[in-house]
Amino acid sequence: MTIELLRFTTAGSVDDGKSTLIGRMLYDTKSLFEDQIAQVEQTSHERGDEYVDLALFTDGLRAEREQKITIDVAYRYFATPRRKFIIADTPGHIQYTRNMVTGASTAELAIVLIDARKGVQTQSKRHGFIATLLRIPHIVVAVNKMDLVNYDQAVYERIVDEYTNFIAKLNAQNVTYIPVSALIGDNVVDQSVRMPWYKGPALLHHLEHVNVGAGQNYVDFRYPVQYVLRPHQNFRGYAGQIASGRIRPGEEVVVFPSGLESRIKDIVTFDGKLDEANAGDAVTLTLTDEIDISRGDMLVRKGNLPQKSNEIDATVCWMSEDPLEVSKTYQLQHTTRHVRAIVNKLNYRIDVNTMHREAAPTLALNEIGRVQLTTTQPLFYDSYALNRMTGSFILIDPATNNTVAAGMIRGETRDVDDLLDVPSAEQARRSQRLQQVVWEAGALALAEREQLNGHKGAVLWLTGLSGSGKSTIAKLLERKLFERRVHTMFLDGDNLRHGLNADLGFSPEDRAENIRRVSEVAAIGFSHANVVLCSFISPYIRDRAYARSVVPQGRFFEIYTKCDLEVAKRRDPKGLYAKALRGEIKQFTGVTAPYEEPQIPEIVVETDIDSPDRIVEKLLKLLEEAGIIPAAL
Ligand code: ADX
Repeated sequence: MTIELLRFTTAGSVDDGKSTLIGRMLYDTKSLFEDQIAQVEQTSHERGDEYVDLALFTDGLRAEREQKITIDVAYRYFATPRRKFIIADTPGHIQYTRNMVTGASTAELAIVLIDARKGVQTQSKRHGFIATLLRIPHIVVAVNKMDLVNYDQAVYERIVDEYTNFIAKLNAQNVTYIPVSALIGDNVVDQSVRMPWYKGPALLHHLEHVNVGAGQNYVDFRYPVQYVLRPHQNFRGYAGQIASGRIRPGEEVVVFPSGLESRIKDIVTFDGKLDEANAGDAVTLTLTDEIDISRGDMLVRKGNLPQKSNEIDATVCWMSEDPLEVSKTYQLQHTTRHVRAIVNKLNYRIDVNTMHREAAPTLALNEIGRVQLTTTQPLFYDSYALNRMTGSFILIDPATNNTVAAGMIRGETRDVDDLLDVPSAEQARRSQRLQQVVWEAGALALAEREQLNGHKGAVLWLTGLSGSGKSTIAKLLERKLFERRVHTMFLDGDNLRHGLNADLGFSPEDRAENIRRVSEVAAIGFSHANVVLCSFISPYIRDRAYARSVVPQGRFFEIYTKCDLEVAKRRDPKGLYAKALRGEIKQFTGVTAPYEEPQIPEIVVETDIDSPDRIVEKLLKLLEEAGIIPAAL
């Protein structure tokens, strides 16, 4: 049996006793060399210290290394008969965010140190927050320096209560509290006799027994190509490290970005060929076909593809003295790929004390915020929640080559709440909606209806100029869906304006009300597991955002029916453009009223280029891929 490995990270400022804690673990597990111990014992003795200064092990070693090379993270190894440990120790005392982020991306456990005398500090919260953001599966809150508070249970309990209160606001999974004295050694390696009131394990025991592997993705095979190996004519291999998942020879793969397909021929390593390779393994893969692959490409398993987009919604931890500049071009490194990226927007900064989102013009060192990025080339990614390897990136300042931020991808940019300032009246309506969900609790659940229907509910929102072909496409699409036994509903601007919305005109206010009513009707259709097709000019971003807000994420498809204005004018199916141009109709979209193009539609279809049939094919595929309707046989 191979001994399990636990990677963990420590967070705390130097005064919290981080170095001493690490030193204590190394010392008590006898993981140090004799000469190191002798040297440190002597130095402590010379200084007249009462105790062996364990921090010297870590700080001393670190100082030595830092002279030679600048490093972000120093790794320390030790082992017990049960387990091997790698500590991502993060030097630098102020830049804790940076350190945690860079040191922790593969960590499975984070130790947050709290000085028992000082209690819960902003920084302790920040550490817990970052650990949860990074989805480190286990957090240990080590309440240190218990010796300096007379091993007082009340002091410990107060800290535990306060921190528990705080962490409840986060999405943390396993949080364990341990009272320790790193200096004396209480509850680090050996169980303390001075805190009989504490019934839990000592830190090392916990580290030895905590379940490992929870933070790994074993399912989605992702293989960023690091090098193309071509030692001679007859061999072409792709070297890299498996970011997640596993692979076997014979399996079908797709290469991103080219989309070319092949099969794994061999998994080659130094020690010969393998039958299987897993996440973390550094291997060379060969394929059965000669296809063009370069560094930065990604191999994935056919049928299990990553997301692809160049509009990225992410949480970033800012790690540079130079604050974030919106609209500046940064280098973005994602797996083995480098692309250029612009931060389009900083949605908000998070106040780590309150967890509130606050508007901010920039992010300073150690601050955390949510941003929208555009990259020059698309990224092939998974959300960080699903895959820590393909869901993370760093930003580099091209001028200095310094890493300025670490990011966690949430998904593609499309969260309207954050893109737009949703007015408070709408927010109020939305919270009402949430209450309605409670009222309705006794009714048939959406999931039951969806199961009966054999497909999911969704709202397909076609927006575009008058004459752009929205209704033509909606009708054709509805026919195809009908043929596939999908339950649909069709809401059309012209039709609804004869009844439900007969009292409304075309002023911005009336259009807003038009869309609001339609959205509500669509929501009802959706809640009965229908695929609701909506065909409305809906020229204002804000109104469409409202429509989007009435159904859950992933169920709203904004379909921008794009058509050149000149083409629409020429088509002029109802003669309305001609009238508008003659001044006979006021506030006509495209002539005397604006059309705000969608910034983040799920799909753009170009009716002046593509045929309705082809467009409908695309839309069906979109719905299949999104899991709304089953794939056609
Ligand atoms: S929306 O802007 O409020 O979304 P909606 O899609 O419901 O518009 O209605 C648009 C239809 O109303 C057009 O297809 C057209 O036939 C008709 N119409 C009449 N006057 C106007 C106008 N001033 N602007 C746009 N469409 C108009």
